Amino acid sequence: MAHTDSGMELHDRFAIPGVLRIGAGNGELPCITVTAEPASAEIYLHGAHVTHFQPRGSTPLLFMSKSSQFAPGKPIRGGIPLIFPWFGARASDKTSPAHGFARLMPWDIESADLRADGSVRVVLTLASDDATLAQWPHAFSLRLIVIVASFLDITLEIRNRSAQEMQFEEAMHTYLKVGNIRQTTVEGLADVELVDKVAAGERRKESSEPIRFLGETDRVYLHTTSATTVRDVANSRLITVEKEGSDATVVWNPWIAKAKAMADFGDEEWPDMLCIESANALDCVVTLAPSATHRMRAKISVAPL
Ligand code: BG6
Repeated sequence: MAHTDSGMELHDRFAIPGVLRIGAGNGELPCITVTAEPASAEIYLHGAHVTHFQPRGSTPLLFMSKSSQFAPGKPIRGGIPLIFPWFGARASDKTSPAHGFARLMPWDIESADLRADGSVRVVLTLASDDATLAQWPHAFSLRLIVIVASFLDITLEIRNRSAQEMQFEEAMHTYLKVGNIRQTTVEGLADVELVDKVAAGERRKESSEPIRFLGETDRVYLHTTSATTVRDVANSRLITVEKEGSDATVVWNPWIAKAKAMADFGDEEWPDMLCIESANALDCVVTLAPSATHRMRAKISVAPL
């Protein structure tokens, strides 16, 4: 299996001179560094985790915590954690890792290509094994297709390799870097039904106004396929998250107390980030027939305000 290869062996197999290299990143974890004509990016094989994306001539789009761990079996804080096969705490077993195991596992590289338009396409894979089957009784294979263009285009493919239907939740838990959360607003979720995790799971409808942030925010918006736009006023930019195959959107900022309570998140970092997660979670769980494949895709782009 490729995930037993060292960064150097992977580099020899997949490097693209001047554009893509593979080496040891933080915590010595294997990391793909892309320096393409339209953008730069970094992808850790641990969790197939995009930790950096920056269009040329622009500033970084993704927030990364300075307190993040980079260690086998631990989640990375920031970038784009991939959530699968359950979202948040597992309802049937609180001792299972929050947000599933996909973000905690080493993925393999399937391919890395420079395309005619200068963008780079990287495909990573993860398959069920004895360790995942011990936690979740379904055989599966995952592919993550990352396109580093002037925008970031990510597709998570999930194939059911078992003989039974399988039900799962998933998310691209995207940490956007914002200049100041207090000056940030979100559009695209007007009038949508939501589950408010800060209010003990209360269900209500979002207002028709842009969303503003005045305290801890942890909401799962249900049955929405709309694009979301983030007005990052302090950075004079508009970030757009378009999506396909995703019926839920999660909006999260921990604010002061929760930031302090998280060991792998700086006490003062909460004003600098906002999670907009393309997801299928809670009422929007996915049921997949044997041999069927589900695809969820997000395209994240930035424009001046
Ligand atoms: C969000 C959840 O998606 O992720 C929050 O809605 C949670 O409830 C947050 O706190 C971070 O989760 P974790 O496991 O990465 O600390």
